[in-house]
Order: sequence, then structure tokens, then C-alpha cells
Amino acid sequence: MKIFKSKHKLKKEISNIKNISFVPTMGGLHKGHISLIKKSQSFGAKTLVSIFVNPKQFNEKKDFLNYPRNLKKDLKILKYLNTDLVYIPHLKDIFSFKVKNKIFLDKFSKKLCGRSREGHFKGVLNIVNRFLELIKPRYIFLGIKDFQQSYLINKHILKTKIKTKVINCKTIREKNGVACSTRNNNLNLHQYKIASNVIKYLKNKKRMIKKNLYNFRLADIKKDLIKLGVSKIDYIEVYNLKTLKKPKHTREKFRIFIAFYLNKTRLIDNI
Ligand code: PAF
Repeated sequence: MKIFKSKHKLKKEISNIKNISFVPTMGGLHKGHISLIKKSQSFGAKTLVSIFVNPKQFNEKKDFLNYPRNLKKDLKILKYLNTDLVYIPHLKDIFSFKVKNKIFLDKFSKKLCGRSREGHFKGVLNIVNRFLELIKPRYIFLGIKDFQQSYLINKHILKTKIKTKVINCKTIREKNGVACSTRNNNLNLHQYKIASNVIKYLKNKKRMIKKNLYNFRLADIKKDLIKLGVSKIDYIEVYNLKTLKKPKHTREKFRIFIAFYLNKTRLIDNI
């Protein structure tokens, strides 16, 4: 496993590599990341993992500072997985070059997380665009727990004609149903249990909505979630995955998208 902190050294190393599978992360690696890396390795190209907690995608300084970090553990995991290349840039290294492509922010960025996290997706696209220009990977692996992020990265790639293919990977969950997330590290046991009950509740709700679309009210779902112990609901929406609008027919494929708080910890999921 080769570790790089400088883009120049990284560029030199990868200049002769034809196909790179890229897994961008902010560290705090968990089973979700491990599954992305394994998937990327199954594609046969060299795997490059980046670890960078990107300050530009945090809309609150406190959230950035509280974001769980554990580089030592991350490197142990990456080594165990036989990762080929790891890029751990400093802020200056990754933000100090002029990019070719302007960021394309699709209008879907205004919905869901975009409503409450001002500048978040612009920050995500800024860093991902930089990584893509630097690494020029054949594939980028993204988890659909962050469905909106993955959707917007894909739109940016298509619009700017970048030659990287987005590979969407399924959400990995803990045994109790909670989606793996670095932010779970900030939950205590009680909050973790509430998170698990929220997921069980939403899975059940989805089954019911599938049977009879007309018979649900988001306001009632919100009330139930507060009763379960959720501190605050940022949003809850039911969207058809293709149209990104509320479904009208029970035949349509849809997901329940949610962002909620357990005390200060904000979790997102789609079910
Ligand atoms: O999903 C994440 O961890 C981040 O948003 C990403 C894609 C690594 C960009 O900083």
C-alpha cells in the first residue's frame, strides 16, 4: 500500500496506470466504506482511496470539528484490505490548483439536504471535481445512503463530460438496521437504539405506503418519529427514484428520504 500526501507525487505514481477505481472518503472508515473498496477491487483496476475531511462541505464549523476522525485505524483497515494507493492531502495540496471544469449543480441540489445545509453540495462537488481532475479515474464508487450526493456527482460528470463512471453501491447496515455512517460514532447506546427503531418504523411504513399510497400523511409520520425519541426531523420525503417527485401509483419505485437529529447528531437515510 502506497500512501501519498502530495498531489505531485501521486500524479507521478499514477501517470502509468491505465485504469483506476476511486473511492473518496472522509475517513472514519466503516463497513460501508469497506464494501465500496471491495467492490472497487472486484473491478480489476487499481484502487485508490482518498481520506480528506473537506471543510467546504460543512455548513457549521462545529460540525466539521466534531466529525469523527481516526487516521490510524483507517490506515490499518486499508492495509488489511490490500488497498493499492491512498491519498491523504492537506487542505493546501488539494485546493491549490486551478480546475478546468466549472461545477455543475443540478436543481435537485435545492431539495432534501440542500434545503438546510447551505453550500454543502457545492462543497462536495468542489472537492470531488478536484479529485477527478487529478486522478482521472475510470470509476468512482459511491454509496446510495447518500443518494442525493451520488445523483449530483453523476449529473456534474455528465454535464462536464468527465470520463469517469459512477458506480452506485448499496447501503450497508448494522445488524439493528441502522445504516453504517461515520457519524454513528457520535451516538450513545440509547440514541443508537432510537436510530434502530426509526429504521424499523420506516421499513414498516414503506410496506404500508406500497399497499395504499393515498393513506399516509408525512405529518403523522413525523409525530410518530418524535414519539420514538427523535430530537428533530430535518426532512422526510417520499420520492419516486426516477422522477424525484412524489409517487402517484403504487407500482412506482419510491424511497422514503429522511434526515433527523438525535441530540446534536444528524443522520440521513433512504429506505
Ligand atoms: O461522502 C463523503 O464521504 C464525502 O462527501 C466525499 C464524497 C468523500 C466528498 O468529500
